[in-house]
Amino acid sequence: MSTQRSSIRMAAVMRRVVCIFMWLSVCQVSGAFIPNELNRTLQNLMQHYKISNQDFFNQKPVFPREPLKGNAELKMVYMYGVLEEYEKLLGHMLKQLPTPSPQLATSGTRTASLSSSDEIRSNLMKVLSKMQELKRNNYKEQAALLEQLRKLEDIEVGNFKVQSKALSELTWIYEEASSLADDKRRRRRRRRQTRIRLHQQA
Ligand SMILES: *[C@@H]1O[C@H](CO)[C@@H](O)[C@H](O)[C@H]1NC(C)=O
Repeated sequence: MSTQRSSIRMAAVMRRVVCIFMWLSVCQVSGAFIPNELNRTLQNLMQHYKISNQDFFNQKPVFPREPLKGNAELKMVYMYGVLEEYEKLLGHMLKQLPTPSPQLATSGTRTASLSSSDEIRSNLMKVLSKMQELKRNNYKEQAALLEQLRKLEDIEVGNFKVQSKALSELTWIYEEASSLADDKRRRRRRRRQTRIRLHQQA
């Protein structure tokens, strides 16, 4: 009897320990993806890319976060677009740096300014390669999808042959588009019903 009671108490303690571990790992996950070195590199770069506080805290982020309120798939497509844009942005920043000219590096002041722009360049390149790595390793499907979307833009909507073929494909597309919308509606209804049922059970 007492061994049973102590094993119950043991189980309760174990459960609490597991809970604490889970809580700790959740805490660690939130905001712990960025490697320390990348964070340091960014802090360093931000020393050089300084703007006024008024401009900095204007409540208008460069990359709006509204699209990140959707479902996970949509969020990832949006994030892929953002990662692509960062690649472009960092590329521009690299191009805007003064080109290193070794002949002029002899005078003292020159050397100082060159070494600082060299440092910026190397830091920008580090950040760029990290962003590219993240994109390459995790966003393959989104890359393919966006490429397909961009190809749609190339369709020659003024071409008679294209118009004819597009009309013949329309019934299939119409069915497919409607069916996708219907699936989504049904999934949403099912989720709502499950929620209501859980609520009633509680
Ligand atoms: C990045 O570095 C800054 C400044 O050292 C620090 O305050 C911040 O917590 C760091 N962020 C992460 C996610 O490590």
